[in-house]
Amino acid sequence: MTQADDVVTTSSAPSGTSHIRSFVHRRAHITPSQKEALDRLLPQWSVAYRCAPLDLDQAFGRSAPTVLEIGFGMGETTLKIAQARPDDNFLGVEVFNAGVGALLKRIDEAAQTNIRIIQHDAVEVARDMIAPDTLAGVHIYFPDPWPKKRHHKRRLVQPPFIELLASRIKPGGYIHCATDWENYAEQMLDVLSHVPLLTNTADDYAPRPDFRPQTKFETRGLRLGHGVWDLIFTRK
Ligand SMILES: C[S@@+](CC[C@H](N)C(=O)[O-])C[C@H]1O[C@@H](n2cnc3c(N)ncnc32)[C@H](O)[C@@H]1O
Repeated sequence: MTQADDVVTTSSAPSGTSHIRSFVHRRAHITPSQKEALDRLLPQWSVAYRCAPLDLDQAFGRSAPTVLEIGFGMGETTLKIAQARPDDNFLGVEVFNAGVGALLKRIDEAAQTNIRIIQHDAVEVARDMIAPDTLAGVHIYFPDPWPKKRHHKRRLVQPPFIELLASRIKPGGYIHCATDWENYAEQMLDVLSHVPLLTNTADDYAPRPDFRPQTKFETRGLRLGHGVWDLIFTRK
């Protein structure tokens, strides 16, 4: 992705606060079939961002444990996990048009009913739409690493956001992060370890759980010779 030097802040925070965005808006290529899926399927499988708590039972048409996935990219991992865990709901949040189109297409082709999408900044979704103590889990897989030091402020895994997410998880629920950037893995371990509501399930990094398949970005990282680090913490 393009990593611009500009720092975009949002002024839409109801509390009057603003935050540095973890993404930059870009005009990325979208295929005709992703565009077609966006036009045809977005109303069926997506929930619009609103500054009000989302009724999860209503959004999914059933009451089930709900996992929030942040930055699902092209959604191939989201679909595989949703297929493997039919009794759970998956709320995927992504800002990238082509990715949202790609996941909509996968949902349609697989006739998968336990995924909903919100196309919006996940920081605002977690803050405004997810009530405290509601999520069964949070997945953050291979978030943009922002490798340059001056861009580290854009990384998603920072204390305020992880504290916010921890407050949205039910006691006993989990947060699972993975990265192929060693320096980001160290930051994740430091940030997650210092959130009072969270407990590490491992001494430091966790083994990759069977339910997480290899993601697209992980495959790219492995090709580049990177390692992979999983972190799984539970909510006290
Ligand atoms: C490096 S990709 C990883 C995609 C996927 N999880 C994988 O492992 O293949 C990170 C994704 O996070 C999305 N993203 C970054 N910041 C976000 C935010 N604040 N809210 C929603 N999505 C975000 C980006 O658009 C991008 O698609």
